[in-house]
Amino acid sequence: MAKEEKEICRIEEGGTALRVLDQRRLPAEEAYLVLRRSAEVAEAIKTLALRGAPLIGVGAAMGLAVAVANGEDFAEARERIGSARPTAVNLMWAMERMEKVYGAGEGNVVERLRDEAERIREEEWTRCEAIGEHGKALIEDGMGVLTHCNAGYLATGHYGTALAPIYAAMEEGKRVKVYADETRPLLQGARLTAYELQERGVDVTVICDNMAASLMAAGKIGLVLVGCDRVARNGDVANKIGTLGVAIAAKHYGVPFYVCGPRSSFDDSCPTGNDIVIEQRNGDEVTTRHYERRMAPEGVGVYNPAFDVTPKELITGYITEDGIDKTK
Ligand code: MRU
Repeated sequence: MAKEEKEICRIEEGGTALRVLDQRRLPAEEAYLVLRRSAEVAEAIKTLALRGAPLIGVGAAMGLAVAVANGEDFAEARERIGSARPTAVNLMWAMERMEKVYGAGEGNVVERLRDEAERIREEEWTRCEAIGEHGKALIEDGMGVLTHCNAGYLATGHYGTALAPIYAAMEEGKRVKVYADETRPLLQGARLTAYELQERGVDVTVICDNMAASLMAAGKIGLVLVGCDRVARNGDVANKIGTLGVAIAAKHYGVPFYVCGPRSSFDDSCPTGNDIVIEQRNGDEVTTRHYERRMAPEGVGVYNPAFDVTPKELITGYITEDGIDKTK
């Protein structure tokens, strides 16, 4: 898959605009947003127009560079963008890298920030390719692979994390049958994973989240690949809500469960999964968002955490740019 194929996040207009694919409108419409202010970038991240842990980091860095190029104060813009979402550590990691470049170095600060943002993007893309190369060995010809949420090129800008081994295996001529959990409530699996895999000619079948265990029971899943928003020092993983249930079912049925992510998603300052802040989102995402009309009574209580934590005991291994790690 060529990098040039579709640029979903890039700096334009001489460094003064960030152009991003608006993922809220997929799969019906491929529309782009042009962002110039830190408030616009933060809003795009909060509303998931720009989403997926690695892409949030890349987009946030680019957005910060653009905001400063347009005359915004670095610290204010950094705070606004850096606090847009709390769980994916790539956001904080990218902001720290930008801060270091802002605080030190020679020459024009606007150019330095832009160069650093472009470097972050290039590095993340290279990491994704390496994840694909390492992970493809786990995929046998004809295997059924289950994935949750979207951890493909839409979540990174290129290749993806959990989908990277699938793309790499297919490039070697292996046939892969992918099952995509729809991923309630925001449907990243049904809307985004199905869209990008279908676009690339991958055999993909969408299932409701509550169907994954029955597929495993039927012996149709040989491997589970998921992404990650933050990996704690002890190996616990925060990822899209529903990942934990998939991991429990996979353990029960003896299906290998691998977490794929770049090292930028690993947070060694966070001791365990209990220390990861889990984003709580508005209840209308559960009751109304993707329905034609409201599907729960007005006024009913709604619990809507965006992520859950899968304990390390349920994880077979981690696929990073460094290889497959089963030791954590
Ligand atoms: O809320 P989202 O859509 O940003 O959540 C995305 C996920 O949970 C992904 O699985 C994770 O960020 C890994 S993306 C390569």
